[in-house]
Amino acid sequence: MNDFLWWRDGVIYQVYVRSFADGNGDGLGDLPGLISRLDYLSDLGIDALWLSPIYPSPDADFGYDVADHAAVDPRYGTLGDFDRLLAEAHRRGIRIVLDMVMNHTSDQHPWFRESRSNRGSARRDWYIWSDRPNNWKAAFGGSAWEHDAATGQYYLHLFTRQQPDVNWRSPEVRAAQLDVFRFWLERGVDGFRLDVYNAYFKDAGLRDNPRKAGLRGFDRQHHLHDMDQPEMMPLLRDLRALLDSYPERYSVGETYLATPAKTVSYCGPDKLHAAFSFDFTRSDLVYPWNPSWIAHRIAARESVFNAAGVWPTTVMSNHDLPRAAGRYSRGEDDAAARMAMALLLALRGTPFLYYGEEIGMRDISLRRREILDPPGKKYWPVYKGRDGCRSPMQWDDSEHAGFSRTAPWLPVHPDFPRRSVASQAADPGSLLSFTRSLISLRRATPALVKGDYAPVAAPRGVLAFLRGLPQRKVLVAMNFGRREAALDLDPAVGMIGRVLLSSQPGSKGMEAGRCELGPLEVVIQEVTA
Ligand code: GLC
Repeated sequence: MNDFLWWRDGVIYQVYVRSFADGNGDGLGDLPGLISRLDYLSDLGIDALWLSPIYPSPDADFGYDVADHAAVDPRYGTLGDFDRLLAEAHRRGIRIVLDMVMNHTSDQHPWFRESRSNRGSARRDWYIWSDRPNNWKAAFGGSAWEHDAATGQYYLHLFTRQQPDVNWRSPEVRAAQLDVFRFWLERGVDGFRLDVYNAYFKDAGLRDNPRKAGLRGFDRQHHLHDMDQPEMMPLLRDLRALLDSYPERYSVGETYLATPAKTVSYCGPDKLHAAFSFDFTRSDLVYPWNPSWIAHRIAARESVFNAAGVWPTTVMSNHDLPRAAGRYSRGEDDAAARMAMALLLALRGTPFLYYGEEIGMRDISLRRREILDPPGKKYWPVYKGRDGCRSPMQWDDSEHAGFSRTAPWLPVHPDFPRRSVASQAADPGSLLSFTRSLISLRRATPALVKGDYAPVAAPRGVLAFLRGLPQRKVLVAMNFGRREAALDLDPAVGMIGRVLLSSQPGSKGMEAGRCELGPLEVVIQEVTA
């Protein structure tokens, strides 16, 4: 593909840095560790890395409480290590995307320390202070307002109380935050993932949110006034102009409480390049897995993104969700993980692959007293938090799974002697080998990257779709059932041809004009006119 655009046509791999590779043996992943694994990532075929926050942080929310936006946490390395990472990644054709957490800071950030020092502080209005709390709730439980005894006012925090929300209405805050983007752009960073960007602005009058039914306090409100305010649009235009003053820079937003319609409203040539819409999760607790629900979700996103001319993103797993491999299967069988991987890599949109997803890592389970994640502590046992999907990368079967020389910050999943990069690299039938083949097939097949999406009528239990350009089409078919299935294509659409890839090595393939699927098999076949 000679008009290859990395963030549209490539695959982006999310590295949760503290769990990826520990270079200095302190039990936490770090930048030197990550650098030592770049060859692995390059062999996997990915085009960019999104790094979860690497900035100094007291870890009230594991890096999402930032104490200095223009520095590297010494536990992860130095700015020099970061420059080395950029150079080494770029040398391999891999771009670097940083996580920008700008809805809030840590309460230890110098801006907040100054803001809370007294009511007359020059930075008092850099955060949102009020004499009287309104009814807003924190996403991680309780009121969104914390009383500050020293100055007698309340400050707003949509997440933990150690994460005060900044006041984006202050021109000084806006200038300071845009300077942070400039700082990293000048260093050569290729793009940014914007953490909960659609909550930056709050209603100027801090009006109460209307109530609705829901499980947690936060869910029992319509989030009318604490997010998605119109002031976001002019800010996105300024940010985009800044990014466009450098070549091929990218922004992807984490849309909070996303729907496809809400997500596309923030994207466009003078707004974000892309934003997540999380089409395959229904809530923090519900992840349906059947062809009709999935087809319905794909259709919904396709119509909305197509109409808006916005390029979609696809996410099956990330640091906030239970891993897809474990969501869709019990035990160690990877058939469902292969299907989820095929969806991730064969749908129209930029795939975001979460570290360890390529080897089908499962969530760890922790006892209540071992839980570290704030919402997990608050809502256990209804919701156990996000530690489960953040366990150390399983590199090999040595002690601590090759992640570290010492006990890591979270336990390694006990399946690591059987499930690791080393064991799967040696096995052509492994999920890792399947993932590599899929990524390289994508790279070699423009229809899979740029082609339109069209659903195909399929027997019960089978999900099938075409990805196509006028000159070339491919058929992607997945059998969710435990019996064999077969698919015919309307001759007006095309003739089914060669098998390009199957999730079951040694699959018997097809007869001309047919697609034969074993139980839980995925096949990708050529379609000729
Ligand atoms: C985003 C992050 C999540 C974090 C929250 C608060 O949702 O993905 O991990 O806890 O923002 O920063």
